[in-house]
Amino acid sequence: MKLLEHKIPIVEIPIKSNVKLFIKREDLTHPEISGNKYWKMFFNVKKYLEKEVSERKIITFGGAFSNHIAAAAALGNEFGIETLGIIRGNELENTWQENPTLFSAHQNGMSFRFVTREIYRDKEKMMKELQEEFPDALVVPEGGTNENAVEGIQYMLNDETREFDYLCSAVGTGGTVSGIAKFAASHQKVIGFKAVKDESLEERIKKLSKRDNYTLVDASDGGFGKIIDENVRFINSFYNQFGIVLEPVYTGKMLRKIFEMIDEGYFPENSKILAFHTGGVQGIAGANEMLRKKNRILIKVL
Ligand SMILES: Cc1ncc(COP(=O)(O)O)c(C=O)c1O
Repeated sequence: MKLLEHKIPIVEIPIKSNVKLFIKREDLTHPEISGNKYWKMFFNVKKYLEKEVSERKIITFGGAFSNHIAAAAALGNEFGIETLGIIRGNELENTWQENPTLFSAHQNGMSFRFVTREIYRDKEKMMKELQEEFPDALVVPEGGTNENAVEGIQYMLNDETREFDYLCSAVGTGGTVSGIAKFAASHQKVIGFKAVKDESLEERIKKLSKRDNYTLVDASDGGFGKIIDENVRFINSFYNQFGIVLEPVYTGKMLRKIFEMIDEGYFPENSKILAFHTGGVQGIAGANEMLRKKNRILIKVL
């Protein structure tokens, strides 16, 4: 993998407020390995490609709509490496073709193993067993989060991002916000918007970032992947006003929460807030399919 040749823009979101809000468009990092996914995989893959092995394969984990699974498959396709996705939910075995994330991952060459939720829960055990079964493979944890991933996130920060008082990121497995906290300048505060109700995140982020410059805020709307109508309305209105596509699991929830916090006066006057758009727009198709089946309002941004 290589560092980017193109510059990632930071755009201002024009809001009537005594603070300023900007978005760093990491979603433009790569058409399919978008945002934090590229950087979380960066050192993992770079180091793996430097190793001499006879059968290269990347194995990783995710749910039915996982952005990380989509990104890993695209990465495998780009580098000519076989990929194997361990997918949560054995009920998908016969229906994965109808799932846009899994279908496009398959088109990018990924093969799958579907496992029950019970088996999936014990990922440590699965990782160990898979590494034994495929000794030459790179086994990447769920969401790509490990120490290499945290190191890669440094490339989301640069001289331009140093000008901000607050750095905001959505949180799933915690690798991204750990990297932002680790590499933030000493004057900067980091806010992680939790897309998942996971009490162990605080501890994990402390361990990975080795900093205490971050705050975690619940932005889960009651649970991971839960999409409430207010979230869909916000995403649609954000797109209509500012022309930027957000997705419903991470970035939509984060930005809605940031707007709420701005309205509540959380940020001191004249604060400069930078939110990272961490991509994941591929998930909109699957979300809409689910919303359509339930006769709910749809995300209209593409
Ligand atoms: C779009 C998007 N934003 C944020 C995150 C959260 O990243 P992390 O799992 O490193 O906390 C993810 C997961 O990779 C994601 O797909």
